[in-house]
Amino acid sequence: MADKVVLAYSGGLDTSVAIRWLKETYGLDTIALTIDVGNEKDIDAVAARARQIGAVKAITVDAREDFLKYFVWPALQANALYEGTYPLATALARPLIAKLLVDVARQEGAVAVAHGCTGKGNDQVRFDVSIMALAPDLKIIAPVREWKLTRDAEIEYAAEHGIPVAATSASPYSVDANLWGRSIEAGVLEDPWSEPPTDVWSWTASPENAPATPAEVVITFNQGVPVALDGETMDAVTLVQKLNALAGAHGVGRIDMIENRLVGIKSREVYEAPAATTLLTAHKALESLALSRDQTRVKDSLAGEYARLIYNGQWFTALHADLMAFISSSQRFVSGDVRLKLHRGQVMVVGRRSPNSLYQHALATYDRGDQFDHNAALGFIALWGLPVKTQAQTQLLTGEAGGAALNQLAGPTLPAPGSTDTPAS
Ligand code: ARG
Repeated sequence: MADKVVLAYSGGLDTSVAIRWLKETYGLDTIALTIDVGNEKDIDAVAARARQIGAVKAITVDAREDFLKYFVWPALQANALYEGTYPLATALARPLIAKLLVDVARQEGAVAVAHGCTGKGNDQVRFDVSIMALAPDLKIIAPVREWKLTRDAEIEYAAEHGIPVAATSASPYSVDANLWGRSIEAGVLEDPWSEPPTDVWSWTASPENAPATPAEVVITFNQGVPVALDGETMDAVTLVQKLNALAGAHGVGRIDMIENRLVGIKSREVYEAPAATTLLTAHKALESLALSRDQTRVKDSLAGEYARLIYNGQWFTALHADLMAFISSSQRFVSGDVRLKLHRGQVMVVGRRSPNSLYQHALATYDRGDQFDHNAALGFIALWGLPVKTQAQTQLLTGEAGGAALNQLAGPTLPAPGSTDTPAS
């Protein structure tokens, strides 16, 4: 019997051609592994297609719940946005898929795993590095990266080998989708100046055509994890699906960015992430009640680190475990409700409450009942300002320049200290 390879199979042209190519090139029998992370596909039809093309076995896994629980929720808790903008949908699914590839390879006694990535993107790095961490002994094959076939040559190869080409292969774009978002690349989008044509969007209404009346939604979090919409508790998958539909209908979650890829190039990326955008906004709003100023500052400084780690394929590292320990500990009081309005592409926080809120009305109010000690402010300011005053006296107001350094900070039109001139108008 031939050696076996486990292929991450999407049902698209690349991985369909790969089934035959792996046999022809490496003499390997393919076990097709199709994983549902919310990519709206008929997964059984995809598996059937794999068998029809020649896979010796086709395995399907519904990983939607695990994807949210172990990959998306930590990223949400961290407020992870790559380069402050991309919610990382594709990047988060890669380590999960790598883990399942390795698990199935072990279970089936395969000698290799394979994926359909090109040699130009981030995903090849994420897959390969994750697999290297989990199973250093497994051979990794990336047929598309190796075969250097143009799309036309691929279609020709498919025709020669009797591989049916799915209608979706006709799309001018490269699309990847899961519950956390949809990514659209290539075609006319490669010109960073041209506006994404309407046919790139499939989850979001255009903000100008979205309903004139905003939708209101209340999201309940338990320790940084969303658990209910409008008071109704639901499972993670349903919650994200509902939010994708609702926020998408109001045009929320369209992203158009120039992204710095790990492999050194800039690329134009278009995303639709209605649920992610909404949940990230809501989560931050709840943290503003539940975390102290210093917790927030330190946590904010780690959000970018965590996003980069996810983007760069470093999921299975000790650094991740270390960051995760901080992030999950930081969430123990992040419970409560956030009220949002979704309107024509915008998500607005209009209310928040938490049983662990650090907001104290008696301290914040300007009305009667104010318990803030106004006299204590005087002592506080004397000490807070002490080093400022000391430095001004000893360095900045003295010498020849006589205050010029400070004056400059206020702009050139203000009079020097002590001068009676009026400022030039
Ligand atoms: N640029 C995104 C990332 O690196 C998405 C990549 C996958 N998108 C695609 N259309 N194939 O995570």
